[in-house]
Amino acid sequence: MSNDSSVRQIENLVTEALSQINGAQTLSDLESVRIRFLGKKGSITGQLKKIGTLSNRDRRLFGQAVNAGKETVVKRLGERLAEFNAINQNTALTTGWVDVSLAGRNVGTGCAHPVSRTINRITDIFRRLGFDVAEGPEIEDDYHNFEALNIPENHPARAMHDTFYVEPRGVLRTHTSPVQIRYLATRKPPVTVIAPGRVFRCDSDLTHTPMFHQLEGLVVDRDISFADLKGSLIYFVREYFEEDLPVRFRPSYFPFTEPSAEVDIGCVFCSSKGCRVCQKTGWLEVLGCGMVHPTVFDKVGIDNYHYTGYAFGIGIERLTMLRYGVDDLRLFFENELSFLNQFR
Ligand code: PHE
Repeated sequence: MSNDSSVRQIENLVTEALSQINGAQTLSDLESVRIRFLGKKGSITGQLKKIGTLSNRDRRLFGQAVNAGKETVVKRLGERLAEFNAINQNTALTTGWVDVSLAGRNVGTGCAHPVSRTINRITDIFRRLGFDVAEGPEIEDDYHNFEALNIPENHPARAMHDTFYVEPRGVLRTHTSPVQIRYLATRKPPVTVIAPGRVFRCDSDLTHTPMFHQLEGLVVDRDISFADLKGSLIYFVREYFEEDLPVRFRPSYFPFTEPSAEVDIGCVFCSSKGCRVCQKTGWLEVLGCGMVHPTVFDKVGIDNYHYTGYAFGIGIERLTMLRYGVDDLRLFFENELSFLNQFR
């Protein structure tokens, strides 16, 4: 191999590389040039690999020439890269300017759902009276949802609860009262507890949804009387509506309480004068309650000679509707933002 011609070949390669570098219009052009000459299969790289195959005599001159050539190309590549970066930065500064006086983008804040809001309000009121807060499972068994609450099989009260049955032997709880049983089964009196949560009934029309919310209350101790029940519930209702409303206890029936009552308040829409909402009666029903039935105490092993108690069940959606003047139950579950945003 003639050293002269080999060295000249390298000079040509370098000249070619420099001219391509100068001609590159974009960063990616430049990168292609680099790969073409200095990449793994690049032409200068190819020359470098050749060095090892040469005889000692040829290797020195040729090696120096290739390395020097490579250095020239690398240096020029670096310079051109710096030029490109400077240009790009300048364009960014002149064309992509930022208007620092623009108003920021709106960060939307949410708010608690009206049902949650009511649960929180009611919970706060009962906490002030010393109530604990408990929860129970939404999938219940027949025993806790019915049997232990003195609703045996074939009891007509079962028909009132349009029950969703779940395989193999469960039910979706039809009320929050099973939490009473679970709570009493694991504790000794005195017991003072509320239990908010979802309940399910196979029912759907203007005034019923298959899922809604209740809040259960339970107080068990020595010497608990109907007077205690009345005192707490009248206090609760007046705190909740922030008004000295008339309250009445109307005799009613629940299998798990005796005596039982439903609580009515003077209609908040017409001040008891009689309107469409109260169906001209001047009264609105807001909750069910009563003294815990001795059979329920038997089921959970509480001595019903020494202990008495009261229980109540509040419909959350109903109380929300009455307080905020919502006239359609379904609004709570459609998640229309225009509706929900009113509860900020
Ligand atoms: N569980 C009853 C219902 O769903 C409400 C209630 C609870 C009544 C506690 C009395 C005592 O209708």
